Amino acid sequence: MLGRRHLLLGAVAAAAFAPSALNAQVLTDEQRSALKTSRSDPTLAPDLLLPEKDMVWWRDAKFGVFVHWGLYAIPARGEWYMNNEKVSPEAYAKLAAEFNPRHYDPVSWAKLAKTAGARYMVMTARHHDGFALWDSPASHGHFDAMHSAAHRDLLAPFVTAVRGQGLRVGLYYSPLDWRFPGYFHPKELPENAALLKRQTYGQVEELMRRYGHIDILWWDGGWLAHKGTDADAAWFWEPDKLNRMVRRYQPKILINPRSGWQGDYEEEEGGAPIKGPIRARPWEKTFSLNGAWGYTPEDQVMSTDQVVRHLADAIVRNGNVLANVGPDRDGIIPPKQTETLKGVGLWLKRHGRAVYGTRSGPLQPVDGVYGATTAGDSVFIHIVGWPADELSLPPLPRKVVSARNLSGDVVKWTADAKGHTLSVPPSSRGSAVTVIELRLAPKAA
Ligand code: GLC
Repeated sequence: MLGRRHLLLGAVAAAAFAPSALNAQVLTDEQRSALKTSRSDPTLAPDLLLPEKDMVWWRDAKFGVFVHWGLYAIPARGEWYMNNEKVSPEAYAKLAAEFNPRHYDPVSWAKLAKTAGARYMVMTARHHDGFALWDSPASHGHFDAMHSAAHRDLLAPFVTAVRGQGLRVGLYYSPLDWRFPGYFHPKELPENAALLKRQTYGQVEELMRRYGHIDILWWDGGWLAHKGTDADAAWFWEPDKLNRMVRRYQPKILINPRSGWQGDYEEEEGGAPIKGPIRARPWEKTFSLNGAWGYTPEDQVMSTDQVVRHLADAIVRNGNVLANVGPDRDGIIPPKQTETLKGVGLWLKRHGRAVYGTRSGPLQPVDGVYGATTAGDSVFIHIVGWPADELSLPPLPRKVVSARNLSGDVVKWTADAKGHTLSVPPSSRGSAVTVIELRLAPKAA
């Protein structure tokens, strides 16, 4: 029975990977980056939006760790390996027989994320290759961890470990599955496309029903045939219906925007500098510490300073950061990514009061120079570049009574009718960001 289902699926899937069809499916870098800005429909199902009060924990949290992990860790050429290298579903499926992560220890991952100062973790329950990290009866061809060499559910211990460290837990799920030719030709192969859709509804229901409270559902790949935006594919996935089912099981889950439905927050992907004014909707910047999202040998790992800089630039504009690691086939998070994360943790130990629980403002950011966060009577100025020895700031809503340099010892400040001036000698500046806490006079009662 099992074998037959697998074979059947393999036969249809093989057709999609015929060389002529394939060329059209392999994306150029330009096409891939176009997908990264894929948009969802802001008018669709506004009643599904979480109330503000249920978003508070996420807005306070600021920093999360993302994990891309699956069969693609074995060939070690990134999570798009199957598509980029035109591997047929049958050939790709063989990797499951090799997938036996000997050192998988999600408790150590969650401890690392906690040490890094992260308040949430998100893991790829299933990426575009179709391989599910859990025991998934809804998976076509039983393409899941239970039927791999691991012979166990790898997601359950992750969820338990993350919760055990007091962190919030998120699951990434890709409706897209390269094994289905109907994904590429939904109109020409409606039956196969319907199978894919059924798999998505079935698997998402499993994820939402079986693992207790889940804090974030992180959709990715709601586009169809690698074309258009997530919103363009809404006719197919019916994301309002899909997310309504999600909310039935998980009324308070935060949902990202990549299903075609607008989501509870916005997403920005990649390592490009963060610019512009404070954004109206809460949003998340996500990027990978290494080159690819899935495991590749570490070549161009981001430094702690680069991550800290993104974090400061995001939080002063109403954003969070979700920084990705790619564990290897045995379940080890590689050393340089570990080191970068530990460094972020050290920075957050010292600067956490300027980060967690704050809100952006009251000053608008100036690109490449500074931005502000605020909490209670404190305004935190995050200085990312010094155009001159002194930094001039516009007036604040109330009188400043003291200034403290969270990044070093010294800060001099003066105030006049036009605003404030801060100066910090280079030896007392942070290497990526200098944070000055300005205490404002308490509000008159
Ligand atoms: C893109 C890629 C994917 C990665 C994701 C993370 O959509 O397709 O490989 O998982 O971005 O944001």
